[in-house]
Amino acid sequence: MQKAFRASIFHCLDDPGEHASPSASEFFDDGLLVVEDGAVVGVGPAATLLPGLAETVLVEDFSGRIIMPGLIDCHVHYSQLDIIASYGEQLLDWLSRYAYPEEARFADADHADQVAGAFIDELLRNGTTTALVFATVHPHSVDSIFTAAAARNMRLVAGKVLMDRNCPPELSDDADSAYADSKALIERWHGQRRLGYAITPRFAVTSTARQLEAAGRLAAEYPDTWVHTHLAENTDEVEEVARLFPERRSYLDVYACFGLLRERSVFAHCLHLDEDDRALLADRGGAAAFCPSSNLFLGSGLFDLRAMTAAGVSTGLATDVGGGTSLSLLRTMSEAYKVLHLRGQSLPASRAFYLATLGAARALKLDEHIGNFLPGKEADFIVLDPQGTPLASRRTGVASSIDERLFAMMHLGDDRHVLATYLQGERSTELPRS
Ligand code: GUN
Ligand code: ZN
Repeated sequence: MQKAFRASIFHCLDDPGEHASPSASEFFDDGLLVVEDGAVVGVGPAATLLPGLAETVLVEDFSGRIIMPGLIDCHVHYSQLDIIASYGEQLLDWLSRYAYPEEARFADADHADQVAGAFIDELLRNGTTTALVFATVHPHSVDSIFTAAAARNMRLVAGKVLMDRNCPPELSDDADSAYADSKALIERWHGQRRLGYAITPRFAVTSTARQLEAAGRLAAEYPDTWVHTHLAENTDEVEEVARLFPERRSYLDVYACFGLLRERSVFAHCLHLDEDDRALLADRGGAAAFCPSSNLFLGSGLFDLRAMTAAGVSTGLATDVGGGTSLSLLRTMSEAYKVLHLRGQSLPASRAFYLATLGAARALKLDEHIGNFLPGKEADFIVLDPQGTPLASRRTGVASSIDERLFAMMHLGDDRHVLATYLQGERSTELPRS
């Protein structure tokens, strides 16, 4: 059955770059998005498309609001929902003090189910329709998050954390169980509905060479799964990896030598890389998750988007909750702008939204399915309300262009501005009562 949605509509066709190339995005001030059987049929000016619609097609009117593709979070930990905003440490101490004790609670499957449901609901409330997610070391934590995502018809990629050293014993697996448990989870979940599996070694600090080798073997056996890990986030971490793997040229080279750098490998952070690393990442088709709020909160460093783009590394935006301080990708765009500003780089609004839509879809190799409104793509979209708060209403009310309106939204916006989230053309969140 066809449905149509009328509003201002924005989506990207390509990377607008630092200079906001106008041909990389489309904006229809009075637009129409036409959907059938969960997929996009077409998008364009309402005046052009409305006359061609059958009389029976229901048109939902969101005039005054902005429809855009669902937001995509390229790296987030669902198990860290309840330690978001924990005080005072950099990465390695933060993991020991907050993240590991919290993740140990997921030994309880009921707890995992409860947090997974709350997490998915939070994503949808924030307009996030797809995410690449760390579970915990417990295999049932993956069942919990996939079950919660499937119940809401969400597209999601997740995996069991692998770690067999430098972590609390109750969170440690081993190379053989990591392989066997991951394999069983791949067989159970990968390709079911809109779910995909990510082989998820936590980072090189917490895996032995044997475990990384086992992960690499899986990555070769299941080439259409994802590989999801952390890379070069913090200088102490980078030094530790050099100490643990002295024979490797760089941190990235550790992953590369174990077969963990390939198409569909996604590396969170990528702050402390050199030119050779960036060239290798690009050459092998690995992607970066840019996590600005986490990088600022944990004092990790400033992502170099210009260098990554110049090297040809595909990059998507990510919240990295609980190191990150918000599940809102709007707020994350604002942090990204500030990080890049400190680096002397610019982030126009169109590019910020690109990094959380088509750019993120490309980084996750999902752009065939999601990321913009080309015909045939899954109709995952959000309705942004510029009047979500009094201040945003004032500011967007005096904006004279879509760029200015989107720029205000990315700095003033959060979940209060996400009026509705649609998955495959069906509304997944209720309109808030006013
Ligand atoms: N590196 C290894 N584990 C983690 C984690 O849980 N969060 C962040 N931000 N970095 C990590
Ligand atoms: Zn992370």
